[in-house]
Amino acid sequence: MRKPIIAGNWKMNTNKIEARYLVEKLLQLANDCNWVDIIIAPPYVHINTIANMINNKSISIAGQNIHWEDKGAFTGEISPLMLKEYGCSYTIIGHSERRIHFKEDDDMINKKVRAAYKHDLIPILCIGETLSQRKEGKAWKVVEKQIKKDIEGLNQEELLKLILAYEPVWAIGTGIAAEPNDAVEIHNRIRDYFANEYNSNIAESIRILYGGSVSSANINNFIKEETIDGALVGGASLKIDEFSAIIYSSKIKIK
Ligand code: PGA
Repeated sequence: MRKPIIAGNWKMNTNKIEARYLVEKLLQLANDCNWVDIIIAPPYVHINTIANMINNKSISIAGQNIHWEDKGAFTGEISPLMLKEYGCSYTIIGHSERRIHFKEDDDMINKKVRAAYKHDLIPILCIGETLSQRKEGKAWKVVEKQIKKDIEGLNQEELLKLILAYEPVWAIGTGIAAEPNDAVEIHNRIRDYFANEYNSNIAESIRILYGGSVSSANINNFIKEETIDGALVGGASLKIDEFSAIIYSSKIKIK
């Protein structure tokens, strides 16, 4: 069985007090939620504080991005080594906001994915099509191309650990989530891709999340689907009641 994941991407939100509050509340519920991997991706400046709060490991920390180099003259960037040293075990890579606003392409994303594994960080690799690409019937082609390039050079062991987040760009932050059937179709195609290009073990083991306007009101429509292993949650991860409800909804996976 694939263990579900509920991951909260805080993006460029939260001050010190808000960050501490969210983590305190999450810690209260996390110990009772051992069926699910709870991951939060806070802004870098909060990582140290949060790592010190989370010493029972019931919540894991992810970076929101990394550079592919270990160190050097890259003003404003963050190294995978730094994230690892400060307590991260995962990192988001290739979020559409990075692809769109910061012009990250699949070559860069592939370098980042490989750098993550080099430093023992598990990538949460985001892929997804824009609205015009979907309207043109190219959603799967776009996602397939992204996956192919982004995971180039990974070995079997690395692929087994990979987490993918299918996040249609038009569903992110808009309040308009994808139709669960459309998400299921892409998730199934991703599994078929891994079965064909690699093997059925990888296809069955790889965890694929849905992301894009997930809320407590719609999570059940996604999480009940066998092929959807959880969610990457943006806005709703900043509201503790919403995020808690989303975490609890994943219990359906163990029933
Ligand atoms: P959203 O963001 O839940 O606010 O749509 C999701 C994401 O960006 O990962």
